[in-house]
Amino acid sequence: MDKTIIAPSLLASDFANLQRDIEMVNQSEADWFHLDIMDGMFVPNISFGMPVVEAIAKHAKKPLDTHLMIMDPDRYIKTFAELGVDHLTVHYEVCPHLHRTLQAIKAEGMKAGVAINPHTSINLLEDTIQDIDIVLVMSVNPGFGGQSFIENTYQKVKDLKNLIQRKNANTLIEIDGGVNAANAKKLVEHGADVLVAGSFVFKSKNPTETIKDLKERTL
Ligand code: DX5
Ligand code: ZN
Repeated sequence: MDKTIIAPSLLASDFANLQRDIEMVNQSEADWFHLDIMDGMFVPNISFGMPVVEAIAKHAKKPLDTHLMIMDPDRYIKTFAELGVDHLTVHYEVCPHLHRTLQAIKAEGMKAGVAINPHTSINLLEDTIQDIDIVLVMSVNPGFGGQSFIENTYQKVKDLKNLIQRKNANTLIEIDGGVNAANAKKLVEHGADVLVAGSFVFKSKNPTETIKDLKERTL
């Protein structure tokens, strides 16, 4: 099996020292940057928008994995592509024409991701899974960093892995929310390919070492 992809979420970084934290991720064993875009409508919080993504893109030397927690994401697909985003993930719950949205993301040269809230069944992806590059399984309710991991996620990941295999799809499973040293290995054992970690990385004493630790734990 391939090594687990570690994607630190900059939401938990020090925004007053963003360049420093980006350099830390550049130098670390992390694989992707995870960017959380929140609109204060789909989720009860506002994070950051285009000017900040543009600033991050200038310094980041690893793929930008961008998680849109916004209503009507179709409006901004082209803009994020122009900003240099590599993966664009939209929420299942706000996409009435999900298949069309996935095609639009790919047409802009990005990998297409679909995020599902804790209450959203993986069965709803049955008809689109072959068109999805990444399924982002929310293991907390989206909107804030630092929340506790929802235990039901393990079963969900296992079911999703079965669906992917059954459909012969080439889809990565990404877990987002409350990921830490205590649940990382178990998540990978259930089928996770990508682990997002915000607070666990950036609130630790030595974020570089914490990333390394997550990587080694999930070998
Ligand atoms: C939550 C975001 C997450 C968040 C994870 O809505 O999607 O990416 O940054 O933060 P932690 O790892 O602290 O739960
Ligand atoms: Zn996220």
